[in-house]
Amino acid sequence: MDKMWSGRFSVSASNLLDQFNASIMYDRKLYKEDIEGSLAHATMLEKQGILTAEELAQIERGLQTILKEIESGTFEWKISDEDLHMGIEKRLTELIGDAGKKLHTARSRNDQVAVDFRRYVLRKNLEIVDALKAMMDEILVVAKQHTETLIPGMTHLQHAQPINFGFHLGAYLSMFQRDITRFEDSYKRNNISPLGCAALAGTPHDVDRDMTAKLLGFDSVSINCLDTVSDRDFALEILFNISTMMMHISRLSEEIVMWSSYEFGFVELSDEYSTGSSIMPQKKNPDVPELLRGKTGRVYGSLMGLLTVMKGLPLAYNKDTQEDKEGVFDAVETAEISLKILKEAIKTMDVKGHNMESACAIGHLSATDLADYLVEKCDIPFREAHFITGRAVAKGEELNIDLSKMEFKYLKEIDERIKEDVTEFLGLRHSMNARRSEGGTASERTKEQLAYFTTYLQGK
Ligand code: ARG
Repeated sequence: MDKMWSGRFSVSASNLLDQFNASIMYDRKLYKEDIEGSLAHATMLEKQGILTAEELAQIERGLQTILKEIESGTFEWKISDEDLHMGIEKRLTELIGDAGKKLHTARSRNDQVAVDFRRYVLRKNLEIVDALKAMMDEILVVAKQHTETLIPGMTHLQHAQPINFGFHLGAYLSMFQRDITRFEDSYKRNNISPLGCAALAGTPHDVDRDMTAKLLGFDSVSINCLDTVSDRDFALEILFNISTMMMHISRLSEEIVMWSSYEFGFVELSDEYSTGSSIMPQKKNPDVPELLRGKTGRVYGSLMGLLTVMKGLPLAYNKDTQEDKEGVFDAVETAEISLKILKEAIKTMDVKGHNMESACAIGHLSATDLADYLVEKCDIPFREAHFITGRAVAKGEELNIDLSKMEFKYLKEIDERIKEDVTEFLGLRHSMNARRSEGGTASERTKEQLAYFTTYLQGK
């Protein structure tokens, strides 16, 4: 009968129950948050006259010893202790005796785990923001080198209009910036202290929740204890934030996989971040972006998993909730390594600007420019201009000439209102630079966008 809660039981828990019930194998990751939470709680209990100064000093000493034991690997994590909260409390009592038994006054594991897990998630929101910024810095370096490098802009994976590669990468910078705002918003929204809610209904002890909130770096104290001990929105939010970020990473990864193929040949990943085949000696495989794409699915799984765990729970705490942690830990660790490796892969990737530009000469990328020319210079309504351009494209297909290189004599045959200056308009670089509306691809506009991200990242 070695359980802390064994008072009302007459037979010991089975080993099978211990295995099934325990979270100590993984929630031990929260040891720092747990010890800090206990220190704040004990400090408050002493100030409120619930613990003596001597008891507080003993608790502090004991917890510091435990911290050292954990960090040096000598702490004994026992499955029979069920979770880290009980493992640490039990060790504390072993170390300091009766004062250790007073630490749990006015507290429950329900508010304790809510504090620990919430603080872990809050910290990770901010750490992921830092890692995102470091990755964006590398994208920005490459983007700035390629504001003049033409690449086919696509819709439906079909050549659409010429853009520049810096602009293309700028699209990802926009996505990742939105991701940052999501992590930051979650941090602000959820920075609320559960400590003092106890099991579900608050506590009759004279606790000072503001004090513990302040000691633990929370902005405020939660409003309703019943909600607080069962609320896992903060965990769902980080899973959603990571899922969305991974979706963006996955889209970029998919492009890198395509661009690395012989068919595209737009980039080549460095040897350091590529892999070989065990049978085909010639191969160089883009495993990194493929895995990033794959891991995205795994992160979505954690989000769906926790949403499903939470959906049928009556108030307040239910043990189902213990299933909240592994998916979050896994998603956070996946996000961390993904951001790190994507940053390195981008930094070391060879961009083959020449191939990007050659690819622009196929698919009549400047067709819209001909239609725009007919509207602007010949005063032809856009719908008619669209039709005339379609005929020019058909002519190009027939002669096997891209519209950007079509000679004036052919264009004149299609519509006599077309003048010789048309060939300038059909040039690919001219086409890209013509799109100078705000947010457009023109090199000067792209440079403005990248300057915006530079300032944004510097200000962070
Ligand atoms: N290990 C538990 C969890 O992670 C801690 C809270 C347990 N509370 C309880 N009343 N059994 O959710």
